[in-house]
Amino acid sequence: MHRSIIDLLICPVCGADVALTEDGRSCVCRGTRRHCFDLAKSGYLNLNPPTGGSGDERAAIRARTCFLEAGYYRPLADRIGEILCEISARDVLDAGCGEGYYTNLLSAGRRMLGIDLSKSGIEAAAKSAKAKGLSAGFAVSSLFTLPVRDGSLDAILNIFAPCAEGEFARALRDGGHLLLVGAGERHLMGLKQQIYEHAYENPGRADLPEGMTLLRRERLSYTVTVCGQEHIQALFSMTPYYWRTSPTDRAKLDPLETLETELDFDLFLYQSIKKGS
Ligand SMILES: C[S@@+](CC[C@H](N)C(=O)[O-])C[C@H]1O[C@@H](n2cnc3c(N)ncnc32)[C@H](O)[C@@H]1O
Repeated sequence: MHRSIIDLLICPVCGADVALTEDGRSCVCRGTRRHCFDLAKSGYLNLNPPTGGSGDERAAIRARTCFLEAGYYRPLADRIGEILCEISARDVLDAGCGEGYYTNLLSAGRRMLGIDLSKSGIEAAAKSAKAKGLSAGFAVSSLFTLPVRDGSLDAILNIFAPCAEGEFARALRDGGHLLLVGAGERHLMGLKQQIYEHAYENPGRADLPEGMTLLRRERLSYTVTVCGQEHIQALFSMTPYYWRTSPTDRAKLDPLETLETELDFDLFLYQSIKKGS
């Protein structure tokens, strides 16, 4: 992980600043106890306390990588990139970054940090960054206890991951931005119609921030044709329906060679309220 990204971090145990050791292999905090965290070979840091949970499993990460790398969500990544340019965000955290699809794609010209509870996700993200020569840094951590300095970030991305408003407000600089993405009403309607007799519209996110200013809400919708069983099953396995669908309903996807579905994203751009105002 690049030194400039380490400058954003704090020790997850005592909250002190951290620095890279001279050999560049670990990170040590400046607190009295000198807590030490090794950098993995692929360059990520594990800053998750042992009790911190594990996030998504390896199979789910592999499925998401397979589907996302095929480009079906690329228009969403491009739109997020445009918004980051518009708000001139340089120091950016991707909170709940999974395998770092957006973090890596949007890292050029930015100090970009991705964190996730899933070690498999972060490992995949860091390996991908290394293989592609990208500058994004990655750490295993909960987004409810962010290992970043107070007021250090220009923007936080929160894409299909839990929203931790209090922590986000602490880590954003005065007037910093939170870009939250969730499923729009008709997201994956085509997939649901294949499986269920009655396919209902999505209810929308229930964890929207209450103490930040909503600057804008926008919808990004388009239709894709998902090609081949590998991508169809990968898409299905990265949805919440995967866990709640009966084997009989799941089997309805098996004969499909293509699947046409709407993708419908709900984007919310918030601004943190200036501290002291
Ligand atoms: C649906 S995935 C979205 C991943 C990525 N943002 C994307 O859109 O491709 C949700 C992610 O949130 C992570 N997650 C869930 N709870 C978390 C927490 N408390 N702290 C950090 N990450 C968390 C999961 O491990 C998973 O990678």
